[in-house]
Amino acid sequence: MFLRNCWYVAAWSEEVTRTPLARTFLGMPTMLYRAEDGEAVALEDRCCHRNLPLSMGKIEGSDVRCGYHGLKFDRTGRCIEIPGQPQIPPDAKVMRFALVERWGLVWIWPGDPAKADETLLPRWHYLTEPGWSVIKGNDAAPVAMKCNWELNNDNLLDLSHVTYVHPKTLGAHGADQYPVQTDRRPRSVRMIRWMPNVPPIPMWAKYLSSAGNVDRWQITEAELPGHCTVDAGFAPAGESTIDNLREDSPRIRVLLTATPETESTSYLFYAQIRNFGVEDAAFTDRFRRDSRGVFDEDVVILEAQQRANDAMPDAPTIDIRFDAPHLAMRRLVREFAEREKS
Ligand code: FES
Ligand SMILES: [Fe+2]
Repeated sequence: MFLRNCWYVAAWSEEVTRTPLARTFLGMPTMLYRAEDGEAVALEDRCCHRNLPLSMGKIEGSDVRCGYHGLKFDRTGRCIEIPGQPQIPPDAKVMRFALVERWGLVWIWPGDPAKADETLLPRWHYLTEPGWSVIKGNDAAPVAMKCNWELNNDNLLDLSHVTYVHPKTLGAHGADQYPVQTDRRPRSVRMIRWMPNVPPIPMWAKYLSSAGNVDRWQITEAELPGHCTVDAGFAPAGESTIDNLREDSPRIRVLLTATPETESTSYLFYAQIRNFGVEDAAFTDRFRRDSRGVFDEDVVILEAQQRANDAMPDAPTIDIRFDAPHLAMRRLVREFAEREKS
């Protein structure tokens, strides 16, 4: 099940070049390239003559020439040349998808281009905001995950898993002992957990000079279809409340989204953003190294879950209290899927 009339991350900006890039979004083979003037273009990855993927062809100026019999298409997907034939039939064209490039990411709208609305992009402006240092996940490339895209929403809206999946980096003090609040919004769901007066997590503890307790929070907002912003932070114990977080406290925001490739595979794009040690390149390197394993640990879980779901699709499961935020998100996705049908 997919939502089509939504923005998805197709690529990091630097991945889209003058060489065709083939990716599949929501089951649709797509080719991405950059036109001569720098505009990023996404076309259906299929020649309308005999279906050779256009990504096997060549970019000529701002156009693409099919690598089989040489039909040439412009960036709108219209065929503009058929070698050896002056007439071009009116239906000689391929689909062009709406794209927008924002904050170093290329976003694709797989649904009706007339409905593509830039105000529906998630608020990921931190990627280019001064005062924040950005580490692009997996060296600015997606992680190919062998799992359904919604498992990523489930994972990030229930961070009680950190105690069990990430014990060395994020686990330590049992986040699973603190209740969560679920905040339902028109196009998103927020999960909020407040952990007052606790030891800092292992990863932070080694960066901090003082060893005292902190107030800790985990806030995940998942915006449709699955753009998750995780705000994990801490402040000296007793100086904040969940409704009044200290703005100058060390904040890490992790932006993650799983773009569906097929029903059972997805591209995970992520970035880590922080407001401390911003200019410190050595710290950035260390932080990148320390946290990389965290994402790999999640991928192992989600892929194993997918294999089990495939093997036992009808096996009964139960819900527990920490499921409330991700169940709310699943409901929201289904509400919008129903709306797309009408
Ligand atoms: S398949 Fe593309 S030109 Fe024939
Ligand atoms: Fe995790």
